[in-house]
Amino acid sequence: MRTVHKLKELRTILQNYRAQGKRIALVPTMGNLHDGHISLVSRALEAADVVVTSIFVNPMQFGAHEDLDKYPRTLQADQERLEQAGNTLVFAPPVSEIYPQGLAQQTQVVVPGVSEGHCGAGRPGHFEGVATVVTMLFNMVQPDVAVFGEKDFQQLAVIRKLTQDLRLPVEVIGAPTVRDADGLALSSRNGYLSTEERHKASTLYKVLRSVASELQGNNPAEIGKLEQEAAAQLQEAGFRPEYVNVVNSLTLQPAQPSDRDLTVLAAAFLGTTRLIDNISVQR
Ligand code: PAF
Repeated sequence: MRTVHKLKELRTILQNYRAQGKRIALVPTMGNLHDGHISLVSRALEAADVVVTSIFVNPMQFGAHEDLDKYPRTLQADQERLEQAGNTLVFAPPVSEIYPQGLAQQTQVVVPGVSEGHCGAGRPGHFEGVATVVTMLFNMVQPDVAVFGEKDFQQLAVIRKLTQDLRLPVEVIGAPTVRDADGLALSSRNGYLSTEERHKASTLYKVLRSVASELQGNNPAEIGKLEQEAAAQLQEAGFRPEYVNVVNSLTLQPAQPSDRDLTVLAAAFLGTTRLIDNISVQR
């Protein structure tokens, strides 16, 4: 497995693969890889001959008071995991390779609608940063397919929309969330949790599951009431809930009584660590 840091080198290698008629998959990551990321690589290997995993802690998607500086950078361990997983190529560019003119001068991609609300409300500018870097990675790698985790449900919706709206010839695949035995969704940010917080953390998914089973029940309570009760349960368990929203899975707009395909989205802080999770419900 090779690692390249420069776009020019990446393009030369990929041109070669393309000339051989190989199908190329991209798995964009910010590194500090866990089993969830490895499952994305496995999914990508099912869909393509060559898998490029990008590792880039994207400054544009972090707010001024967020964890950009302390975000773990673990390139060597990541390379070892990727090699074992059968990944073909790692693209690990420095910030200067992606934003040579600096962030302020960078053209941005804005995705209306699905970027708004939920995490978009709590993290202004976040999805512009994600959409911009993913569009650039799509242009740099020109993959046939790209794989993203369903854990970042709103991010996946943003990426699907930008791909469609900008007519990018990339098939976007969503891969299921990988969870620890107690239900906590794997995330690089779980490493910030203290032992005590880690014990509490699984409550987030438990609360989402109970909202989902209410929604599927014969007489589901009013959706607004379910959202409020879920937030109160999280608060009681020691979280600082940012939101619990039941949405239409396609539009991410507040769920209507006639909607059949729903997703419960949540974000909550445990101490200073912000966790997100979601669960989809068909009724
Ligand atoms: O999900 C992530 O790790 C990031 O948001 C992504 C898609 C790699 C863009 O920086």
